[in-house]
Amino acid sequence: MSIQKRLVGSYVAVICVTVLILEIFLIVYVRYYYLHNVERSLMNQAELSASFYEQYFAEADLEEQSERLLKGFAHNSDAQVQIISSSGRLLQDSIGIHQGDPSMTKYVDVRAALQGHAGTWRGKDPATQEPILAVSFPLRSHDVIVGEVRFVTSLTDTINTVKHIAVVLISVGLLVIAIVTVLGLLLSWTITRSIKDLKLAADRMTEGDFSTRVHKRYEDELGSLADTLNMMASRITKSEQLKNDFISSVSHELRTPLTSIKGWIITLKTSGHDNKALLHEGLDIMESEGDRLNHMLEELLDFSKLDNGRIVIHPAPVQVVQLLHHIGKQLAPRAARQGIALEIQAADNLPVLQADENRLKQVFINLIDNSLKFSESSGRILVQASTAPDQQHIIITVEDTGIGIAEEDLQYVLQKFYKADQHATGSGLGLSIANQIIGLHQGELRITSEAGKGTTVHIHLPVKNLTIS
Ligand SMILES: Nc1ncnc2c1ncn2[C@@H]1O[C@H](COP(=O)(O)OP(=O)(O)O)[C@@H](O)[C@H]1O
Ligand SMILES: [Mg+2]
Repeated sequence: MSIQKRLVGSYVAVICVTVLILEIFLIVYVRYYYLHNVERSLMNQAELSASFYEQYFAEADLEEQSERLLKGFAHNSDAQVQIISSSGRLLQDSIGIHQGDPSMTKYVDVRAALQGHAGTWRGKDPATQEPILAVSFPLRSHDVIVGEVRFVTSLTDTINTVKHIAVVLISVGLLVIAIVTVLGLLLSWTITRSIKDLKLAADRMTEGDFSTRVHKRYEDELGSLADTLNMMASRITKSEQLKNDFISSVSHELRTPLTSIKGWIITLKTSGHDNKALLHEGLDIMESEGDRLNHMLEELLDFSKLDNGRIVIHPAPVQVVQLLHHIGKQLAPRAARQGIALEIQAADNLPVLQADENRLKQVFINLIDNSLKFSESSGRILVQASTAPDQQHIIITVEDTGIGIAEEDLQYVLQKFYKADQHATGSGLGLSIANQIIGLHQGELRITSEAGKGTTVHIHLPVKNLTIS
């Protein structure tokens, strides 16, 4: 069942029950009120007539005076008046029929009055089948019941009035139900409309169209759901964009070394046989391009592992000084080739770190690689390691005199795929990976740089208490 049907259904059900209860109560009450009024007025007349009799006719014989009495009683009343003897015989009747009928005791009101209290009876007129109300009141002479006076009136008008009022009440009730139903439909429409919008947009997103946006109609829960959905779509669009950028940048990165390798293969195929020097040069370049490819693929693999939280640190004692010197030796040929001075300055008494040596090595190589990549020849790279004043950390800085990073780029360089210069080689992942690895060691990586002057990367690593979760 649709939400609209459920909403409207429950509204209408509640209002129907309420209206029904109210109607029953009102109609019963109106009926009671009208009938009671008629009965009270008859009773008043009967009581008045009886006291009149007691005051002025108590001495006289009821049967003899009955005609005069009837005239007096009926004078002020629209009702039918009867005078009945103490034996229950009808003595007088203002409309004249049934005169002499002895069987008045069949009516409860008559019997009640003969026993000394006021009686009422509602039923059908035996002759006309009209609904009637009868009220009897005893006539006393010196505390002896000598007969009774009976007032009878037709209830047709009263019942018609009550029916009339009931019709009006029921009509009003139906009108209320109709209005509530329409209002309920309108209200639920405003809700289901928003839901339909959301559903439509979600469907389109399921089909892959993330440019779609939900129109937010109201500032309510559904409105904020629309906001959330829209935000989700724009996030997905953004990450889709990032993915596409990444793929194109990676394919570009892969193509450059491959093109170079292929070019050398063709060169060597045609003239490599007789030119030993050329052969050597070609193979060297192919080797280093192969290394570059390998490096890039490793970076990508690492990145995807880091992103999934699948990189685990295996801590072991690490001699930072030795590690740095080792890396320095490894990169020295390249620095020399580029005409850049690479210098390692490390205090001898550095504490032993608990860390993953291979991952730390990866970080430093990355940083020095950046410095080499972004420095002109005759530049200088200085790697320093020292103990922090608190004795709890080792501080390692990699400082270069390269092109530096512009202030607006500085805040982004730690992000994945971010490169200040889109055309520079590299995937833009190196710093992001380095930062995450240092983070896994509970350390901190910070970059300061000035465009044109150079860049310094500061790394703080805690000496002890490396807990790996
Ligand atoms: N030492 C540096 N000097 C100047 N710019 C740097 C340096 N290190 C990093 N950058 C900038 O930060 C970007 C991101 O570096 P990184 O994450 O290592 O990616 P990649 O080296 O693949 O470009 C670089 O593209 C470059 O713009
Ligand atoms: Mg790099």
